[in-house]
Amino acid sequence: MNSQASAPGKAILFGEHAVVYGIPAIAIPLSNIRVRATCKDTSHPLTVIAEDLARPAVTIVGEEFDRSDPLSLMAALTIRQLNTGDLTGEIRIRSDIPVASGLGSGAAVSAALGRAIALMQDCVIADGELSKIVFEVEKLHHGTPSGIDNTVVVYEKPVYFVKDEAIEFIRFGEPLHIIIGDTGIASLTRDAVADVRTLYEREPAHTAAQFDEIGDIVNDARACIESGATARLGELMTANHHLLRGLNVSSADLDRLVEAALDAGALGAKMSGGGRGGNVIALVNDRSVTSVKDALVQAGAKRLLEIVAR
Ligand code: PMV
Repeated sequence: MNSQASAPGKAILFGEHAVVYGIPAIAIPLSNIRVRATCKDTSHPLTVIAEDLARPAVTIVGEEFDRSDPLSLMAALTIRQLNTGDLTGEIRIRSDIPVASGLGSGAAVSAALGRAIALMQDCVIADGELSKIVFEVEKLHHGTPSGIDNTVVVYEKPVYFVKDEAIEFIRFGEPLHIIIGDTGIASLTRDAVADVRTLYEREPAHTAAQFDEIGDIVNDARACIESGATARLGELMTANHHLLRGLNVSSADLDRLVEAALDAGALGAKMSGGGRGGNVIALVNDRSVTSVKDALVQAGAKRLLEIVAR
């Protein structure tokens, strides 16, 4: 047997950080950057080989497993869910999603691994079950995750997400043309999430008001996405970026890329994901796409990704 499972990256369009506090957020899958997990039969205990991750890893999955290791935890929880007992074989994980950059690498690795383990057992793991297991592993990456990453990565559909509520998928009135620009700086989401928690505890009223403002933007953005009001959507993106700056999760590099995209004619731009490093997203149209891409590279973007979300 030589079969493959996969999962996509993701980008948060609106509402990151505030989503941890029950505010809605909107995210889309990035189907053209993926994690692929290839299964091979062997007679040895299940071995997971991951070469492209921050910590390249070879994990032997058995009775005793390390709960602090994301690959081991994901494998063990999936095996428990499928009720298969110990497995043999090899799963090799390859990823083209940059790690620690807000594009969902952690959730995609977990999701692809879970699906690969199910594949080895000739069964399919339901998206709802898989998403719950990936969420458990996300706690290692994020501390107190909202659940948005596992949801959008597992279901691979644009979502309007509210923590602990039923998932709502959203439809696009018009395709969204987005350029994603990478600062090239890896940063840990759990640190940024912890700092927002500290801010919230120190200044609860002010921080809650900022979250509420983000929530209003997210709801307005959903209406714009569904009706195809792209120009207004751009303004909302930029407004969301300024509120994220207020939460102190942006950085000089992210701000520089956002400014460069706006100066070059983007309809809107913001950081995306945990922040401090990672990526910005810029909403463009046919007129501005080339100038925005050029401006992002000029301003230091290490890698660009162009997507049309529909
Ligand atoms: O994984 P990242 O960096 O895209 O961050 C996820 C978004 C946060 O809102 C910052 C955290 C969360 O769990 O929702």
